[in-house]
Amino acid sequence: MSIDLLVRNGVRPDGSRVDVAISDATIRAVEPGIVAEAKEILDASGRLISSPFVDAHFHMDATLSYGTPRINRSGTLLEGIALWGELKSLQTRDDIVTRALDYCRQAVGRGILAIRSHVDVTDPSFRTVEALLEVRDLVRETLDLQLVAFPQNGWYRAPGAEAQVIRALDAGVDVVGGIPHFERTMADGASAVRAACELAAERDLRVDLHCDESDDPMSRHVETLAAETVRCGLQGRTTGSHLTSMHSMDNYYVSKLLPLIAEARVSAIANPLINVTLQGRMDSYPKRRGMTRVPELQASGITVAFGQDCVRDPWYPLGSGDMLEVAHMGLHLAHMTSPDDMRTAFEMVTLAPAGIMGLDLGLEVGRRASLIVLDAADPIEALRLRPARLAVISNGRVVSRTEPARTSPVNVF
Ligand code: FE2
Repeated sequence: MSIDLLVRNGVRPDGSRVDVAISDATIRAVEPGIVAEAKEILDASGRLISSPFVDAHFHMDATLSYGTPRINRSGTLLEGIALWGELKSLQTRDDIVTRALDYCRQAVGRGILAIRSHVDVTDPSFRTVEALLEVRDLVRETLDLQLVAFPQNGWYRAPGAEAQVIRALDAGVDVVGGIPHFERTMADGASAVRAACELAAERDLRVDLHCDESDDPMSRHVETLAAETVRCGLQGRTTGSHLTSMHSMDNYYVSKLLPLIAEARVSAIANPLINVTLQGRMDSYPKRRGMTRVPELQASGITVAFGQDCVRDPWYPLGSGDMLEVAHMGLHLAHMTSPDDMRTAFEMVTLAPAGIMGLDLGLEVGRRASLIVLDAADPIEALRLRPARLAVISNGRVVSRTEPARTSPVNVF
């Protein structure tokens, strides 16, 4: 067997110790004690090897812009949208490309090898779309960047937004987006969901909607998304992002809703850092956490991923491109602290979002050779310590290395 790269002595998330043989950007063997000539050998030294991190919900056109032209003083979603409107008219295409590439480098260093980014299409200048299409091409060999045509100010509420979504798809944007809870009425939101699903069915595309991102217990757009998914034959190809209103819904209604979502195979993406930051802002005590009902969705057979959503932008002052930080917050908010639940939380930032994006990832023979080596013994230790990404391998190439952090306290005790 002619091997380009042999990763030795790795421990998979299930605890099994294996070598991974890679040639032509494909995983050729995953088994203990592979004997083969390899052009390059990487010794994982008994540390965790995993599928790469995947961030299935992000906004790359806004990232790393925090403070420009001002900060979000109320901390709310709505002030963030208004602030983004101010920033949009100020930033150039080069500004967007420079910030996005800066973020992509940080993300790859943290082991993220695929990102689904919403891109606001409602700016008539179209510079956000053009900039992120350019970035998608520039990073293609290393990072899968999937773009969603996102009408930030509403499919119907923003003049000309529907035409701009179509223009973005014609230009090569991958997925149909929407924001039904931001339309003027619940009826307009339902119409926007219908229009998005019909457009996706016509073009054989996926749908990913910002859906029910509010504290409103009566928001009903994911119900419409489930129904339209079935009507348009899009089962398994639609996603409801956020779904924060489900946190506040009546329990009886949720017991009816979950089987409808499962039947339509709509997947869900919770964004724990942002949900807990933006939701509950109008509450006195007790304050709602705002994140959707993750364990209940999973118990109904619905695929759920954790996304990052924002890094230093009009909505969020923090963030670091670390999906372990995202999963760490998510498992706390969802009370997912049993060993099995924590392993599930790790999958919610690796394999689950890869499935939602339709990517060929996984530590199996025949898959694309993209994987990471973490300075941890297992997924639970990785979540606890959020350790160095010792090696990041994309399409068979080592694209980042990080030395393990070592601290030696002196003159104590
Ligand atoms: Fe978002």
